[in-house]
Amino acid sequence: MRSFIFHNRFLAALLLPLSTLIFSCTGPVPMVVNNLDRQVDSVLSLMTLDEKIGQMTLYTSDMDQTGAFVRKEYEEDIKYGRVGSIFNAYGADYTRKLQDLAIKNTRLRIPLLFGYDVIHGHRTIFPVPLAEASSWDMKSIEHAARIAAIEASAEGLHWTFAPMCDIARDPRWGRIVEGSGEDPYLGSEIARARVRGFQGNSLGEVNTVVACVKHYAAYGAAQAGRDYHTTDMSQRLLREVYLPPYKAAIDEGALTVMSSFNDLDGIPATANKFLLSDVLRGEWGFDGFVVTDYNSIGELINHGVAADQAEAAAISLEAGIDMDMQAGIYPATLSNLVDKQLVSEELINIAVRRILKVKFQLGLFEDPYKYCSTEREKTLLMTPGHQEAARDMARKSFVLLKNENQLLPLSKNLKRIAVVGPLADSRQDLIGSWSAAGDWSKAVTLLEGVRAAVPQAQVQYVKGCEITGTSTDNIKQAVEVAKSADVVILAVGEAAWMSGEAASRSDIGLPGVQQTLVEAVYKTGKPVVVVLMNGRPLTIKWIDSHIPAILETWFAGTQAGNAIADVLFGDYNPSGKLPVTFPDNLGQVPVYYSMRNTGRPFEAANKYTSKYLDGPNEPLYVFGYGLSYTKFEYSPLVLDKNILTENDTISISVTVKNTGELAGEEVVQLYVHDKVASVAPPVKTLKGFKKIRIDAGEEKIVQFVLTPADLAFYRADMTYGWEKGAFRIDVGTNSRDVVSAEFNLQ
Ligand code: BGC
Repeated sequence: MRSFIFHNRFLAALLLPLSTLIFSCTGPVPMVVNNLDRQVDSVLSLMTLDEKIGQMTLYTSDMDQTGAFVRKEYEEDIKYGRVGSIFNAYGADYTRKLQDLAIKNTRLRIPLLFGYDVIHGHRTIFPVPLAEASSWDMKSIEHAARIAAIEASAEGLHWTFAPMCDIARDPRWGRIVEGSGEDPYLGSEIARARVRGFQGNSLGEVNTVVACVKHYAAYGAAQAGRDYHTTDMSQRLLREVYLPPYKAAIDEGALTVMSSFNDLDGIPATANKFLLSDVLRGEWGFDGFVVTDYNSIGELINHGVAADQAEAAAISLEAGIDMDMQAGIYPATLSNLVDKQLVSEELINIAVRRILKVKFQLGLFEDPYKYCSTEREKTLLMTPGHQEAARDMARKSFVLLKNENQLLPLSKNLKRIAVVGPLADSRQDLIGSWSAAGDWSKAVTLLEGVRAAVPQAQVQYVKGCEITGTSTDNIKQAVEVAKSADVVILAVGEAAWMSGEAASRSDIGLPGVQQTLVEAVYKTGKPVVVVLMNGRPLTIKWIDSHIPAILETWFAGTQAGNAIADVLFGDYNPSGKLPVTFPDNLGQVPVYYSMRNTGRPFEAANKYTSKYLDGPNEPLYVFGYGLSYTKFEYSPLVLDKNILTENDTISISVTVKNTGELAGEEVVQLYVHDKVASVAPPVKTLKGFKKIRIDAGEEKIVQFVLTPADLAFYRADMTYGWEKGAFRIDVGTNSRDVVSAEFNLQ
């Protein structure tokens, strides 16, 4: 338990009447107190009902807008204690000004908590989360979150609405860009890394921010990929696939959770006792606080589970919602509901306790202004070190999808390079959606990155067409420039606004006339490298079958252009692997690697098997896929035993040899398949991975150790555990190309 020293003389004095009970020190300042819960209770016991409800209220400032409406009177609300936390306000001076309103005007001077969506960087913008996930590099992801926290906290922020832990298997859903893809194991590892990065070693440190696990739960399973849409799934799928990343983040110490917009099995998450109380608190022991998403309490009326605001408030509180984001419904209704004995004040006390506890843990009662330092703000934002980290994270996030005849890396001696496409010099799109206080004008474009990497080359740029729209007028000019070049770098994809919240697409091909541009440039016969920028898997079958080199760069952040040039010209050997399957065509969606076999697995010659009449079952690029400029060869697997018993472990080793000419990094992936079980098992389930660097010609032994617990699943009776029998282990460079071995669990 931490001890606290109160620098706030007023609060110390205010708490003094209770000090005989609570504090052992005699003087008012400093006081050393050892019991967090008793500190919280000491404040709670002084609070009126209205002050308590104020603490349960979160409003946005008008500095940024992340939802449909803003309440203009939030400064008044602060003054009168009607709000306990503010989001979308940052900057040392501005947060100090708002904090002042609370500290100087409210009776108890309870500090405000400042939250913001610091999702992939604050000022220095890192690649979008789906891109970071493609690095499979937990240290770098943690480091990116650490830097985000350093910058955010230097601007007065205490709380980030991240990590987003929603598993997503439908690329139509625009928010797939905010998550870690389709797999619960990878998603859980990343969720943990981000929480470590945001919260650091101790929340008492001034450079840490509280994490908020969102959007709880199963928001990523929106039907038909349409944002905010219904989700409905079996308990098994929920527990096996969708819940693990949220739980992992909580196990890692995340102190807050955000309920999601969707309903699950007909019960909106914000009114869902099963999710919020039974699972989150009952099963997982979460003791932080739960905030809603933007106006989610209000939306219970649209969902049709509450007749009016009062009912919406009551069912949210009873389900386990501690803080109302932006609906203003707790402040509008709770007091009356308590007076009429329709909700119990004890539920309110529980919620307020949880919220105050986090404020104590951040050290805000010691010094409400501790995050509002203009000095730190001056020195800690956008530092060269942060830029370097963003560039490194970006190049690690890129996935080389195709590289016929080793077209890449390009020689730095090339004389004439054509840089073409609507994303080739786009600055605004590079920082992607949810880019916090990121300033897109500071982003490095692909064109700039290329020019900086090969200053002696003649680099000609033509946009060719817009990202969306129908005009093909400028394609001709792009073709002319391409014809005169030695190589064409063609940047196509989506605009940043096409993924993220409220950005579902029913067609995930290249928007506008970009496909026409690609085909026209291809027809010149020049070597073409397609650089993709996008926030979701796209259907790019034509590109895959015609264009010799394809590099997926997602939205790579502030340093995008430099990082892409690093890879194109061989200063960095790509090592990213897809965290999500790329469908062959939209009709396959949802398509993911850990499907079940079915009773009629695909056989080309047999009509009555599970397949499409008009297309393949195989996706375009499988989960875990990504090439390197070098080649890795896998030896057969070596198991230390063939029979694993209950309290034992099994070791699986593979030798990976770099048979190419360049040093490179490889993500060695381990999948398990339970051959016979009481529940039809997925064909493969990721259970481990290691990212290693191997020099040219060198080989490394990679070892994984599994225990029976790693083989557990929700059995037919929904108990969690393993079943004896045969298992297949697959280890490889992606989820398809593997070496295999078998063992028995007895
Ligand atoms: C989004 C959340 C976000 C919140 C606050 C909502 O619209 O769904 O992800 O944290 O706004 O900005």
